[in-house]
Amino acid sequence: MKKHLLSIDDLGVDDVTTLFDTAAEMHDVQNRSVKKLPALRGRTVVNLFFEDSTRTRSSFEIAGKWLSADVINVSAKGSSVSKGESLRDTVLTVAAMGVDGLVIRHMASGAAAQVSQWTDAVVINAGDGTHEHPTQALLDAYTLQRRMGSLEDKHVAIVGDLTHSRVFRSNVLLLSKLGAHVTVVAPPTLMPAGVTAWAKDAGFSTTYDLDEVLPEADAVMMLRVQRERMTGGYFPSAREYTVGYGLTRERLAVLKPDAPICHPGPMNRGLEIAADAADAAQSAVLDQVSAGVAIRMSVLYHLLAGEGSAQ
Ligand code: NCD
Repeated sequence: MKKHLLSIDDLGVDDVTTLFDTAAEMHDVQNRSVKKLPALRGRTVVNLFFEDSTRTRSSFEIAGKWLSADVINVSAKGSSVSKGESLRDTVLTVAAMGVDGLVIRHMASGAAAQVSQWTDAVVINAGDGTHEHPTQALLDAYTLQRRMGSLEDKHVAIVGDLTHSRVFRSNVLLLSKLGAHVTVVAPPTLMPAGVTAWAKDAGFSTTYDLDEVLPEADAVMMLRVQRERMTGGYFPSAREYTVGYGLTRERLAVLKPDAPICHPGPMNRGLEIAADAADAAQSAVLDQVSAGVAIRMSVLYHLLAGEGSAQ
């Protein structure tokens, strides 16, 4: 495995299998009453978050703590970033304290890769702008595999605001690596420029027509409409978006009954996903959250335990 986890491209299929096997063991730890493992005792992990987060930040924190690492959270609000400190100075300051792992979320695409040039610490990308979110893709694929068995030749539809989605980019890379056939669905205004060429290259499909894809899908992944990244009007109204691209109650009825419904969260209920779909028996949303802890334990373990560790 490479030193850092910046992109799904850093992982070979063997690495993914190793990460999933360890995650399955970590998943069992989650069900124990005493959840501590000593693997990262004496190691220090800093969660450096320049963007808001509920799931990702807290699951990295829980994952680190259950592995006995010391975990410190630094967020842009409440840190010297709000006094104008640069990313480089912030990273060098944190690194100078003797940190072993740096989990970073930042609004600029490429931020995690840049940070890995400035520090000796292991860097884990927890979302960089609209570029990638590798641990999210890992937990999504892990969740799907546990529900569906192998992903080989399975048809996965990824639906929604593709333009602003790092989750889509990491997922296309990983699901394709694992042999799934991916179709991405979005309105023309939220279909990223250049996606057709990328799709041809990477072997996934693109369409504007959700209703054509849904009955065929073995799994569906709904993405949040990311209003905070939108500068203009990408669709006329919320209602119009839902009519064209929402997983509504009517669309739920045409989905295969055992097809998992995923959403990375946070969900806009009533916009991209109806409550009936989010809470359906086939919804995997809460499985994703619990898999998130197991996957992050696995990633932290493989990147930070071992050589030079306190064990
Ligand atoms: C995603 C993110 O931040 O990229 N959420 C997450 O990590 N759970 C997707 C989103 O914000 O819509």
